[in-house]
Amino acid sequence: MKRITLPLTISVVLLLAYGAVRLFLPNLLGEAADKYVRAVLLLGFSVVVVRAVSFVLFDIVFQKRKGREAPALLRVLLSTVLYSIFIVVIYKVVLGDKGGGLELIATSTVVSVVIGLALQDTLGNFFAGLAIHIEQPFHILDSIKIDNMIGRVEAVSWRTTTIRTNNNTTVIFPNSRVARDPLEVFRFNNLNRHILLVPAPYDIPPQKVISSIRDAVASIQNVASEKTPIVRIGSFADSSIIYEILYWTKDYMWVPDIDAQIRQHVWYIYRRSEIDIPFPVRHVLLEQQERPARRELPDYGSVIESVEIFAPLSADEKHAVVRSAVRSVFAPGELILRRGEAGDSMFVLYRGNVEVRLPSRDGNVQQVAELKPGSFFGEMALLTGEPRNADVVTLSEVETLEIRKAVLQEILDNNEELAGALSRIIAERQMRLDEYSKTMPEQDRQEKAKNILRRIKRFFSLN
Ligand code: CMP
Repeated sequence: MKRITLPLTISVVLLLAYGAVRLFLPNLLGEAADKYVRAVLLLGFSVVVVRAVSFVLFDIVFQKRKGREAPALLRVLLSTVLYSIFIVVIYKVVLGDKGGGLELIATSTVVSVVIGLALQDTLGNFFAGLAIHIEQPFHILDSIKIDNMIGRVEAVSWRTTTIRTNNNTTVIFPNSRVARDPLEVFRFNNLNRHILLVPAPYDIPPQKVISSIRDAVASIQNVASEKTPIVRIGSFADSSIIYEILYWTKDYMWVPDIDAQIRQHVWYIYRRSEIDIPFPVRHVLLEQQERPARRELPDYGSVIESVEIFAPLSADEKHAVVRSAVRSVFAPGELILRRGEAGDSMFVLYRGNVEVRLPSRDGNVQQVAELKPGSFFGEMALLTGEPRNADVVTLSEVETLEIRKAVLQEILDNNEELAGALSRIIAERQMRLDEYSKTMPEQDRQEKAKNILRRIKRFFSLN
């Protein structure tokens, strides 16, 4: 409003002053000076009119219709047109130019045509920019795909649109191209879907492939948690089934990174499940080949030896644990255990570190503990039959030995001491979890350990 009232006040004051001069000192201004003063006065009022029109059109009508601010470019354009009209009219009417105004219009038309032809491209870009500003098909931070190039919109000026690619380079498109060419817009903070193709061998049941890949994809950073990823058969190819992984992300620029992580996770999943990554086979082997010798297994005995709770076990029992344990390798950032899921095995860490974590109140995650080689996890659900208490996520590439319930059952039957040691550790871990989840520990540590021991005995039917 101040933009209108200020020139209005000045114009009114000037008008009053002019009126007073004309009334009391009619001879003060000569004829020529009088004309110029009137022209200045009218110019002042034209500022008021232009600003008022701009206010009504853009701040009231446009805002109400579109629900957002009008583009600055549009305001400037309207002001330029209105001022040009006012200047021509004042020149013609007030300064007493007879026919001169028409000449001016004619001359300016010729000049405009010449300038228009010279600036054809620039003007094309300018009007395309104007259309982009009005329609707003995309915003800053959105990602767009144009001419097979994907980048985040960094700036839209009168003439150009600038995007930043994943190579951290900027590509500048003339607005006329952006307005004319097909454009794919991936809105920032919108659930944008992407499809990644991954092969799997024909002899592995699709359900197995689908469930293991889906879980892995859901735990990857920057995959939107609002929508569960979908894994489905895409096609039957020459040497493999091609699976489609559909996932959603709120920032499309992460797609190459997410795809790479999915491929990495898939490699580890295949490795754990002893699935070979299929590749086209083009030759026929006729000779009998000897089976390759089994790879030497690392010294898992030493890691079982270093686990404190297994100290009471005899050498034979430790050997039995190592023999029956299932070895798995996990990628960095992979979710090994999910809070709330059922579990009937525990893990001994042979290589790499894992993090035990809980969701925090603000929706983030909080680290409860970091476990190093020689530690174990997953014992709580295994021993009590309750759901997993926390998420366990790898911090680096991790190798584990998984010990199943049946193996532990046998050992527990012969080692009362082991159940006691485990119940004490579980009680301690449970109290730490209670601290993080801010639930009041209802009993003290010893009482809790006794309680847990009772639950273990009941669950494993021990005396
Ligand atoms: P479980 O409940 O089966 O699955 C999650 C695992 O995280 C849990 O078993 C424990 O092994 C582990 N865990 C939970 N709390 C802690 C803690 N405070 N310190 C170390 N490990 C923990």
